[in-house]
Parts: sequence; C-alpha cells; structure tokens
Amino acid sequence: MKTIVGTSVEEAVHWLKCGEPVALPTETVYGLAAPLFSEETIRKIYFVKQRPANNPLIVHVLNFEQLKTVAETTPLVQALTERFWPGPLTLVLKKKACVSNLVTAEQASVAVRCPQAPLFRRAIDLTGEPLVAPSANRFQHVSPTTAMHVLNDLGGSIPYVLDGGACVFGLESTILSLLDEAQPTLLRYGPIATEVLEAFLKHPIITPSGVISEQKPHLSPGLYKKHYSPQTPLYLVKNLADYVPPSRYKEIFEAHAAHVFLFPPSRPLREGEYVLSPNGDLNEAASRLFACLQTLDTQGWLSIWAEAAPNEGIGRALNDRLTRAAHVDLRT
Ligand code: TXA
Ligand code: MG
Repeated sequence: MKTIVGTSVEEAVHWLKCGEPVALPTETVYGLAAPLFSEETIRKIYFVKQRPANNPLIVHVLNFEQLKTVAETTPLVQALTERFWPGPLTLVLKKKACVSNLVTAEQASVAVRCPQAPLFRRAIDLTGEPLVAPSANRFQHVSPTTAMHVLNDLGGSIPYVLDGGACVFGLESTILSLLDEAQPTLLRYGPIATEVLEAFLKHPIITPSGVISEQKPHLSPGLYKKHYSPQTPLYLVKNLADYVPPSRYKEIFEAHAAHVFLFPPSRPLREGEYVLSPNGDLNEAASRLFACLQTLDTQGWLSIWAEAAPNEGIGRALNDRLTRAAHVDLRT
C-alpha cells in the first residue's frame, strides 16, 4: 500500500470512511485512528501496529457531551474535564454498552481523552463519531512526534498520514483512573503533572510504583517495562557532564556513542553530543526526547547515553520514558 503524507483532513477522513486507519497528529504524539463504531477498521489498527489484543485503546472525544455517550460520568469527572480538557489528560471510567470489547480489551472500563490539536478535532467532527487512537508506532517502538516518524515506522501499511508538524508535548497523555473515586490512581505519567492533579483533587493520587512484570496481569499495558525503546541500546545515568563510567562500560561509553544532555553543558559540545533543551527548559526537553531517540536510531550509533531529569513535574514523565527506554539503568 502506498502511504501519502498530506495536510488534508478531508482526505484523512475519507480513508476512515473507507475502513482504513490513518495517522493523525495530536498535541501529545501521532495517533493511528479509527472510528469508534467501525470494528473492521479497529481490527486493522491491531494488525498494523502488531499490538497484542489485551492492550486497550484510548477513545478520543470532542467534549464532555460526547464523553457522556461512551462512559459513566460524575460531578468529579465533569470538574476534571472542565479544568483539563481539551488537553493531554486521559480518564479511565466505567464504559457504556456501546463501546465494544475490542476497544477495551474485554474490560468494563474505557480510557477517554479530549485532544487539543485542531486537526484531530476536525477529524472527529467530520467523522461524526469518537475516534480510537493508539500511538502510531509498531508495538514497543518509540512513539512518533512527527509525520516522518510515522512514515518510517508504518509506511506501506496505512494509506495516509496527516502532517500537522511536530507535536507540542511530545510525550503521551497522563492517564488517571477514576474507577474508584475515593482513590484516584495514576496509570501513566504524562504532560499533566501528578502534583497539579493532586492540587486540583485535594487528594493524594496512587502513582505507579515502578514497572510491572511482563507476566502479571496488568491494568494498563503502557506500563510494560519494555516500551518506548529505541533500537540502539540506551544507557541511563544521573549527570552526564560529570559521568565517569565503571571500567566495564568505559569502552561502550566512548566507542561511537551518542551522548544526550537535558541542558547545554558548561563547555562546547563535542561530536556525538546532543542537547534536548538549548533553552534549559524541562518541558522543552520532554517534548524533544522521542524525536531525538528517533533521529539517533537512524544514525548508526553503537549506544545512546542519556541523563535523568529531576523527579518532579514533567521530569517524572521524562524519567518514566527514559527508564523504559533504557537497556541498562546506571543511576544507582
Ligand atoms: O497521548 C496519548 O494518549 C496518545 C494519543 C494518540 O492520544 N495515545 C496513546 O495510546 O498513547 P496508546 O495506545 O499508545 O496508549 C494507551 C494506553 C495503554 O497503556 C493502555 O493500556 C491504556 O492506555 N488504556 C487504555 N484503555 C484502558 C483501560 N480501560 N484501563 C486502563 N488502561 C487503559
Ligand atoms: Mg503507545
């Protein structure tokens, strides 16, 4: 199948109506979209991504009104959506009967978010129903933050990639489960920081305590240890500028290795050194992480060395993705 990269929402929606999933930009990452009520198109998403069927999809709605058609809502849900929607917050709620088991992986809950990106919103509007969309990458690959990343990973398997430029946040949405409102539970770190949610809820949130085992049953498969991994082995350290590798890693650290700093070091950059945020801004660093990993993966480095962020705010989401991307975590 020939994959076209273009800027026409109408063309993207035309393909959706023909039963073909297409890649659409959101403010977090690019999604591989299908209409909520087209099981045939949703099946193709699982096939194209090579995604296991036990990994449920996020439903994207235009507003609170549309949310009410797919999930049970409460005053707390309404308050959260008024504060954080449209935007990168996904809520896990009790599903309504119209949402198929194919979307929820047989669970009684559904994950819903309301995207901010205008092109994605238009696509929902023109389709006339919510769109399900996982990130537009093959299973366990790094999520795409540009149309080119999608083309590199899924080119030949989908008809259309709607190009909306680079994603503003560059990390997948924060996922909060409200199945038990007495105990809000974070399922995935993301652009909406835990501290911000706790301040709004005036209640502590249970956060993921590390990564779950691949064998155990799980709430949110996005918590798999091996997720978001570049093909090139990544080594995670605390502070790259001052890092001295243990002797057994010395050769790997030096032999054709890419070094990724969060902020500019206080000396000129050497060959193979990259900076995620030239402006020294953690949000900027987070938004560029996946794009940087995608680029380095195509450049033939033998290893990638990256440094962790301070563990607060968006830094937690950044560290979460780095930890999952890491082949070896050398922070302790
Ligand atoms: O930012 C995003 O959320 C992007 C864009 C495209 O919207 N989407 C995204 O989808 O990251 P995906 O499929 O890559 O990740 C969805 C995550 C998975 O970890 C899945 O397990 C979890 O959401 N999820 C979906 N439905 C769930 C449910 N009912 N209960 C718990 N977790 C759920
Ligand atoms: Mg994904």
